[in-house]
Amino acid sequence: MKKNVHDKIEILRGDITKLAVDAIVNAANTTLLGGGGVDGAIHRAAGPELLAECCTLGGCQPGEAKMTRGYRLPARFIIHTVGPVWRGGNQHEPLILGNCYSNSLNLAVEKEIKTIAFPAIGCGAYGYPADQAARIAFKTTRDFLAMHNQIQRVIFVIWDERVYKAYQQML
Ligand code: APR
Repeated sequence: MKKNVHDKIEILRGDITKLAVDAIVNAANTTLLGGGGVDGAIHRAAGPELLAECCTLGGCQPGEAKMTRGYRLPARFIIHTVGPVWRGGNQHEPLILGNCYSNSLNLAVEKEIKTIAFPAIGCGAYGYPADQAARIAFKTTRDFLAMHNQIQRVIFVIWDERVYKAYQQML
């Protein structure tokens, strides 16, 4: 039975490192060498082999996406993407954030990934307003799923109560 786009998207409250999906997405920085927030949580849970593989990737530009294995995570793979630092909204932040989702989803299709989980990219240290980020996350993902039926499930895993409320408005 063909699921429609809306049936493929869900929102969960919690810790993305616990999800046993094909891939979880990391809100990284351009060095890909770890950091705080969800980046720190993923590196802690995946273990030191993740950093070793990240060192071979040569960094990542904002809006781009690169994939590693998941190592000690329940997820098989990690797709690392770099959100825009929020500077008021006139420095192409919406475009870059949309690219984080579309490039991560394109890479997932390329690697035959069927289930993928995203954190609220940009909504922590990078200061992206949660309501605007949620709108971009949903619109980009819905548009992508309408064109690509290989992806079976997209889960937005939201840690922060304030951000969770913003994402729930999008359902
Ligand atoms: N699971 C899911 N979401 C989480 C988790 C977790 N375990 N830990 C934190 N988050 C949430 C935060 O609450 C926030 O809503 O992820 C969202 C994104 O926040 P950040 O992790 O700060 O990411 P971002 O705003 O994109 O900033 C990226 O922070 O950690 C550094 O190296 C990273 O420099 C980069 C910057």
